[in-house]
Amino acid sequence: MTAWFQPAYPLLLSAFMSGDIGVLIGKSALITGASAGIGAAAARVFCREGAAVTLVARREAQLAALTEELRAAGHRAQYVVADVAKSEDVARAVAAAVDTYGRLDAAFNNAGYGVEPKPMHLLDEDAYDTTMDTNVRGVWNCMRHEIRAMLLTGGGAIVNNSSTAGLVATPVSAPYIASKHAVIGMTKAAATEYAPHGIRVNAIAPGSTRSEMIDTWLKSNPEMEDVLLQAAPLPRIADPAEIAEAAVWLCSDRASFVVGTTLSVDGGWTTR
Ligand SMILES: NC(=O)c1ccc[n+]([C@@H]2O[C@H](COP(=O)([O-])OP(=O)(O)OC[C@H]3O[C@@H](n4cnc5c(N)ncnc54)[C@H](OP(=O)(O)O)[C@@H]3O)[C@@H](O)[C@H]2O)c1
Repeated sequence: MTAWFQPAYPLLLSAFMSGDIGVLIGKSALITGASAGIGAAAARVFCREGAAVTLVARREAQLAALTEELRAAGHRAQYVVADVAKSEDVARAVAAAVDTYGRLDAAFNNAGYGVEPKPMHLLDEDAYDTTMDTNVRGVWNCMRHEIRAMLLTGGGAIVNNSSTAGLVATPVSAPYIASKHAVIGMTKAAATEYAPHGIRVNAIAPGSTRSEMIDTWLKSNPEMEDVLLQAAPLPRIADPAEIAEAAVWLCSDRASFVVGTTLSVDGGWTTR
């Protein structure tokens, strides 16, 4: 058996034994930014759909508690403490997924940072650097290591988390808007390069979603909640699991002909 066709049977067997039935059965999936918000919700939804997951973020306590919860429910889960802005950290996380589960089939590159919105001329250099390092370099680091692993087993699926701010200028910071546009550009570039090698790369563009990031912002700008709600045909803030469902679908074989797209999951925000 060559490295190109390493079978997923061990993962399939373990999924069936744990009672999982879903669209990611037999797949090994890596999720970044899994210590909170959308990433933590994705960990639960990916596991529900049968994936064996490798969870990545910087805060160990949150990752350990979530991994414990998932294992107690009969799922296959592990975590790696890593900073997506550091290539060597991401390499370690991808290697852990391959070492433990034998392969990497799917990745949800979700880790992100949003600086408190302020007019551009009032932001400091660090706001730009941290936003770009996390949101752009992070996705660059993740995709490069994930692609190397996926090429060894004949392909996979990658979903990058952009934002409505990757499509239009929402009322958030300029570096965040620029970084999320870059995620979509990098998604299209990678989709084009790797579709012929069996790797589908897509992005999602969530609207306002209940999480630490948005809660912190709305706490200091309570008037913004109404502004956001009034701009959307579905006037509410999404539950993180609603975003995770889109990522799962794009990672699954059900989305087998979807390549290089950006799926808005925003209650219609970008229709106006
Ligand atoms: N909430 C929204 O309304 C919304 C809308 C559109 C898009 N998004 C995007 O959705 C993604 C998830 O955000 P969220 O809303 O769920 O926010 P959140 O609750 O603040 O979660 C952010 C996650 O990213 C991780 N993270 C941040 N910097 C990291 C780094 N350098 N290395 C590794 N992990 C890092 C954090 O973990 P640690 O701190 O433990 O590292 C955390 O798990 C982000 O890309 C965000 O831009 C959110």
